[in-house]
Amino acid sequence: MGDPRLQEIASPVDVFDTLELHVLIQDMRDTMAACSGVGLAAPQIGVGLQVVVFGMARNPRYPEAEPVPDTVLINPVLTPLGEEQEEGGEGCLSIPGMRGLVPRYKQLRYQGFDQFGGVIDLTVGDFHARVVQHECDHLQGILYPMRIRDLRKFGFTDVLLTDTASPG
Ligand code: NI
Repeated sequence: MGDPRLQEIASPVDVFDTLELHVLIQDMRDTMAACSGVGLAAPQIGVGLQVVVFGMARNPRYPEAEPVPDTVLINPVLTPLGEEQEEGGEGCLSIPGMRGLVPRYKQLRYQGFDQFGGVIDLTVGDFHARVVQHECDHLQGILYPMRIRDLRKFGFTDVLLTDTASPG
């Protein structure tokens, strides 16, 4: 947090299934795994492209969070379904050691492409929808603290008690 590259609007990917793109995605997956993250956006490793990766197996530490399939999402378009938002705990690999309570749309349609140019068009809810919104915010230069309504609900992970899993 504070790096200007995290505040920029990311550029769309023009060409799919290139060595450059596959290397970027592998780098992102390695970074995410090394940090035990649930997701990562390309600007978090200094690359200003509209590429996010996310996924989480069922985790006994977070029994409330449903598993999220391993996904590569490129040039995403998000469409909230309904006005309903829900507050939930989030962290971010770009803001280590901190968490906050962030409002997100509960139901969401997201469209985009995978790394081969295959079309992605899904409707999801709850934690899956939260992860997608968090990661795609990175492509607009938005970090989750900018969405927190009550800054008393933002603090150090060791101090603040929230029981939901953290996106990347
Ligand atoms: Ni993040």
